[in-house]
Amino acid sequence: MSMYDDVEKILYSKETIQKRIQEVANEMNALYSDADLPLLICNLKGAFMFLADLVRYLDFRHELDFIETSSYGAGTASSGDVRFLLDVGESIKDRNVIIVEDIVDSGITLSCILERFEARHAQSVRVVALLNKPSRREIEVPIDFCGFVVPNEFVIGYGLDYDQQYRNLPFIGVLKPAVYQGD
Ligand code: IMP
Ligand code: MG
Repeated sequence: MSMYDDVEKILYSKETIQKRIQEVANEMNALYSDADLPLLICNLKGAFMFLADLVRYLDFRHELDFIETSSYGAGTASSGDVRFLLDVGESIKDRNVIIVEDIVDSGITLSCILERFEARHAQSVRVVALLNKPSRREIEVPIDFCGFVVPNEFVIGYGLDYDQQYRNLPFIGVLKPAVYQGD
């Protein structure tokens, strides 16, 4: 059976995603044109595809780094226990940091990241998130640039996984509940 059979519906096609990312990049281009070498920090693994497309639309000089966080295990709801599996390679003190996220759901992951970076005295910390699912928020967090507001459904594709799979789908879709029911 194909992995495509597990998709209930497509929310955003690859064309829609590209068009929206270009618009988000333009907002960022306007804000960062004169900034002092911003540092984009991609939160792995989910944001890898978004980062790769986003940076191709940016026209300001910047540097890239990666962190990896994990809170889900194999379920579809945050465990509330955010683990940092990978940290940035260099100091973020006095840097203009832009966190690149795939989706903000409960807000727990992002709030842990923000707390950590603010304690290290970045000059500014902003957030760009491809997806925002405000219906599930448990902690209030700022999102400076956002691609799409998604309904309260578990989404996959374009970097987002269920149990580490489906990240390669070229669109963002809703997973058939039958796939995770029984977990
Ligand atoms: P939060 O801590 O609950 O805000 O969740 C943030 C992380 O959970 C994101 O970086 C995603 O990796 C993952 N996540 C949240 N919602 C979804 C979803 O609908 N599909 C896939 N991953 C999700
Ligand atoms: Mg994930």
